[in-house]
Amino acid sequence: MLQSSQVIMIELERGLAVNIDEEIIDVLHLAYGIYPKEFTADDLKAVHEIGKHIAEGGALHAIGQGGDMIALSRPDLNFVLKFAYDDQSPKGFSPKFSKRVEHGFSLGKENLGGILAPSMDIPLLSSEGESDNQVIYTAIVQEKVITVEHYLNSLESKARLKEEERLKKDFILITGAMWDRGIFDMDPSWEENYGVILVPRAPSIGLLDWGALYAKGQLVLIDIGHLSDNPEEFPEYEGIERQHLYEESLKSFFDPSNFKNRFGLLVNDDWMPTPGIVVPEP
Ligand SMILES: Nc1ncnc2c1ncn2[C@@H]1O[C@H](COP(=O)(O)OP(=O)(O)OP(=O)(O)O)[C@@H](O)[C@H]1O
Ligand SMILES: [Mg+2]
Repeated sequence: MLQSSQVIMIELERGLAVNIDEEIIDVLHLAYGIYPKEFTADDLKAVHEIGKHIAEGGALHAIGQGGDMIALSRPDLNFVLKFAYDDQSPKGFSPKFSKRVEHGFSLGKENLGGILAPSMDIPLLSSEGESDNQVIYTAIVQEKVITVEHYLNSLESKARLKEEERLKKDFILITGAMWDRGIFDMDPSWEENYGVILVPRAPSIGLLDWGALYAKGQLVLIDIGHLSDNPEEFPEYEGIERQHLYEESLKSFFDPSNFKNRFGLLVNDDWMPTPGIVVPEP
């Protein structure tokens, strides 16, 4: 995560105080190979707006939630704010991400340009009731997408079949590209964790203007919580041999022998599925 000197600070209560350090631009450059457009007055307005809505509570609503993250947005915004999901807290989220999520985010940010949905982390300074009781929340601002699951469900059957085929091919392509960069997505629930870029940008909100790198219809990763850079972890998940976690047409790609061919040097020669686990025949 960015250090506090590198970030955009938003003061929610005493008007807008924004401090954009040069370094944040470098981080974006490293991660995505491009410089974002300059932050315009509209961008700053959008940042302020995010803060204001959080401060007021309620204007942003949850559009999705998993074990680690809650994603908040509004129909007019082209991005989501992701916080650490916490069902014990009245807000539904807490200030800090777990180490695993932080690790995944830094792997994604450093290695997955063009694959991870455009994302950056910002701290949001929020007053919890009393003005002297301010809490810094880390949020990931991420391009809003429609998840593969919701996208396919929104299509009628003929279009659905066609898009399903295209997205499966793209999933294989980007998974291979991730492997080539030494990054492994451990979570097999790809229909929830990948999405399609299709939301036209609201012209007044340019906070995440990543130019032409990400095209409409492109499949991107949104969930950074299960990224690993250790190939030895990949061949099985929760004790189940990797390929059994995917539907029929993806099984051969995720077969340990295919993985091993690509990572012959990396995967232990005598790797075997955990003994004693019976995998049901498909
Ligand atoms: N960029 C986004 N655009 C649209 N919806 C999103 C976005 N990011 C997350 N969501 C929604 O929120 C859900 C949870 O997000 P994400 O998968 O990142 O969290 P998670 O807690 O890590 O999930 P898991 O339980 O799989 O670990 C997604 O499945 C999706 O429905
Ligand atoms: Mg998820």
